[in-house]
Amino acid sequence: MASEGVKLGLIGLGTVGTGVVQLLTQNGDTIARKLGRPLALTRVASRSVHAKPHPPLENAQLSSDPWSVVHDPDIDLVVELIGGIEPARSLTLEALRRGKDVVTANKALLAQHGAEIFAAAEAHGAHIGFEASVAGGIPIIRTLREGLAGDRNRALFGIVNGTCNYILTTMSEHAEEFATVLARAQAQGLAEADPSFDIDGIDAAHKLTLLAMLAFGVRVSFESVYVEGIRHVSQTDILFAREFGYGIKLLAIAKEEDDTLEVRVHPTMIPRSSLLAGVGDAYNAIFVQGEALGSSLYFGRGAGSLPTATAVVADMIDTARQRGTIRGSGVPPLGMPWHELRAIRLRPIDEITSEYYLRFMALDRPGVLARIAGILGDHDISIASVIQRGRSEGDETVPLVLRTHAAKERNLKAALCLVDELPIVQGKSVSIRIEENLG
Ligand SMILES: NC(=O)c1ccc[n+]([C@@H]2O[C@H](COP(=O)([O-])OP(=O)(O)OC[C@H]3O[C@@H](n4cnc5c(N)ncnc54)[C@H](OP(=O)(O)O)[C@@H]3O)[C@@H](O)[C@H]2O)c1
Repeated sequence: MASEGVKLGLIGLGTVGTGVVQLLTQNGDTIARKLGRPLALTRVASRSVHAKPHPPLENAQLSSDPWSVVHDPDIDLVVELIGGIEPARSLTLEALRRGKDVVTANKALLAQHGAEIFAAAEAHGAHIGFEASVAGGIPIIRTLREGLAGDRNRALFGIVNGTCNYILTTMSEHAEEFATVLARAQAQGLAEADPSFDIDGIDAAHKLTLLAMLAFGVRVSFESVYVEGIRHVSQTDILFAREFGYGIKLLAIAKEEDDTLEVRVHPTMIPRSSLLAGVGDAYNAIFVQGEALGSSLYFGRGAGSLPTATAVVADMIDTARQRGTIRGSGVPPLGMPWHELRAIRLRPIDEITSEYYLRFMALDRPGVLARIAGILGDHDISIASVIQRGRSEGDETVPLVLRTHAAKERNLKAALCLVDELPIVQGKSVSIRIEENLG
């Protein structure tokens, strides 16, 4: 095998799959020089491979059946790029069971079935590469697993969903409402026809599950990640945020404190002067705070055919290198063997402490601020600053906007329930968490 190259079987010839074929074609010679042997694309299986145009694949056997790749005893490395849970899960497990290495970009699969898949890789001494599954072309998995292996991470903040970042950046720069920007993003192919996975924060939560395991060496289940999407972010709140000196980003946040871990995804106000606030359009960035290193920031394209393919091909090269060593002796996929990952208490959202932006639509009467401040004070929530606007003609209510000092989420929810019942307040109050320490 060594002299004739590493035999690759690619499953899925869509956005990322065609990028991988293009990179292997363009950079094949350089890759062979790096490896000392070529990466040989031997089999390609994709549902519509015989019906849709695809890049030239002269030396590969083509099929629409993904099992033809997994069942071929000659294939050394299976590259899964079909996405979704099934049949990706069964194909991956069977490939590992047969001792084949696997490279995948499938964050949904690893976030939801990681325990089973990482354990199978270990049991069969196979390698699993998943660099492309988080933040596309940014090598954040390798960075957390290897580059930062000697440090103890305290917190991680990620802009890891390009669609949400594009929508929030455009809303902020062009003063447009969420629905308008989303519709245009869909028309331009920047958002899916069914955008819920992205805009409801699910995709970011999949990525955070993996990032948190790597950054903190703990077991994290996808179900334990608190998730809030960006549907309710309004132009009004973007403008008030700016007055307070903040921008709004969908952040994936993981923080370890007192032997517990917070893992949450939600719209977050961050200082406009912070580096993360400057990450615009569909770009991704991950900000890591380590005890020894301090702060570090990783920035780049989080999606797209060629950017994501660079991560897939890097994993292929890495995996091919590890095949030359004793099976199972390479770097474990999560930086340590599965059984060494700590079980840690995950702090429910009600137990977190945060500063908050609050907006109420209140009747323009004397004493309104005092009533609301009184309820907040009764719940140990103190006000850091206030913006109060006068009434324009025709307005029944005026926005009353507050920024709080650090408060307990549980207390905030209890206080907002009471405020929302006041006859002087109309509609539901808006609250957005603030993160200050991002520099
Ligand atoms: N797109 C990105 O920028 C990006 C970035 C990071 C990670 N990822 C991840 O990369 C993976 C692939 O994403 P993608 O954007 O390339 O998806 P895609 O464009 O939808 O491509 C998926 C390909 O797999 C084929 N396929 C689907 N189910 C199949 C089955 N059961 N058997 C055989 N072929 C099947 C599809 O065939 P048809 O042509 O018939 O549909 C299509 O060619 C996903 O896990 C995704 O989350 C994507």
